Amino acid sequence: MRETVHVPLGARAYDVLIGPGLMAEAGALIQPLLPRLRVAIVTETRVAALHLDALRSGLSAVGIDSVVLELPPGEATKGWAHLEQVTEWLLDQKIERRDVVVALGGGVIGDLVGFACAILRRGVRFVQVPTSLLAQVDSSVGGKTGINTSQGKNLAGAFHQPSLVLADTDALSTLAPRDFLAGYGEVMKYGLLGDSAFFEWLEEHAPAMAAGDMGLRVAAVRRSVEMKAEIVTRDETEQGERALLNLGHTFCHALEAATGYSDRLLHGEGVAIGCGLAYELSARLGLCSQESPSRVRAHLKAMGMKTDLKDIPGDLPGAEALLNLMGQDKKVVAGTLNFVLARGIGDAFVTSDVPRNVVLGVLQDALRGN
Ligand code: GLY
Repeated sequence: MRETVHVPLGARAYDVLIGPGLMAEAGALIQPLLPRLRVAIVTETRVAALHLDALRSGLSAVGIDSVVLELPPGEATKGWAHLEQVTEWLLDQKIERRDVVVALGGGVIGDLVGFACAILRRGVRFVQVPTSLLAQVDSSVGGKTGINTSQGKNLAGAFHQPSLVLADTDALSTLAPRDFLAGYGEVMKYGLLGDSAFFEWLEEHAPAMAAGDMGLRVAAVRRSVEMKAEIVTRDETEQGERALLNLGHTFCHALEAATGYSDRLLHGEGVAIGCGLAYELSARLGLCSQESPSRVRAHLKAMGMKTDLKDIPGDLPGAEALLNLMGQDKKVVAGTLNFVLARGIGDAFVTSDVPRNVVLGVLQDALRGN
């Protein structure tokens, strides 16, 4: 039960391996990249308690020594202070240009460590070992690295592709159900943006996948990564098509900002609700039938996921305030809002041609619960 997705980016090409038991084999899989039998692992304490021993014994099985830096868990780690800490620690460990750094964890660790590797000695190689569903299907693949600044999320960063991604699907069994489902928001996004047959497959199989079926998990991660790899290969630095991966994200960023990036709304939950709103907006603009947003929302409900704005605990600001928060998104180009809209399930496109009052109407109705 092992899948490989190749990301064919020329000199920066790499494989994404997907399946159970990959950490135990990490040594044999990483060794071909190494000039010497030593790696630096950067992780966070919660993930370390669950997975570090498995990874280190997988490495030592082929004689690879490892030094480890454990950071605090949580989004606050993804900032300047820990970027400095990671970079200086890697220098203290005498990590050289040809060495390999291993990022073990979710999106926070992958983004932070990837960025540190992008700037360390003007670029050292790194291997992503993503442990969350969100990191396996999205953030570990494609080379976007970075940190948050006081102005917003992911505003400082670099494109720096990993040299290998080991998506060990056993790690998904250690996730809290809420975190698994939040990551699922990104899986569903792939079906919606470009593969209606995958969305249909998810409608049929995602409940069993969420309940733990490993074969279905491997298949869902593989198809997601395959779609991401295809898009990233055509548009590595997001000049156009890669923006499709932001389906649901413009609404999501406004909701995340409105809820203070807190536990009230996880990123993937915001993406899921945002996908529903993007389809609602598309229907109102006459791009797709009302059946499409209804189908998205029905699937989210069937998965037991947050679907509507009323599912977010606590108060939200008004529609105008939410619209203004969308304006803070880094995808703003020359002051107009970039949206990913859809002509139907599996048929998304990017546009900046969205009348403000229609977005406002969608938000007003969503806040009223219509
Ligand atoms: N997560 C969006 C991208 O990688 O482009």
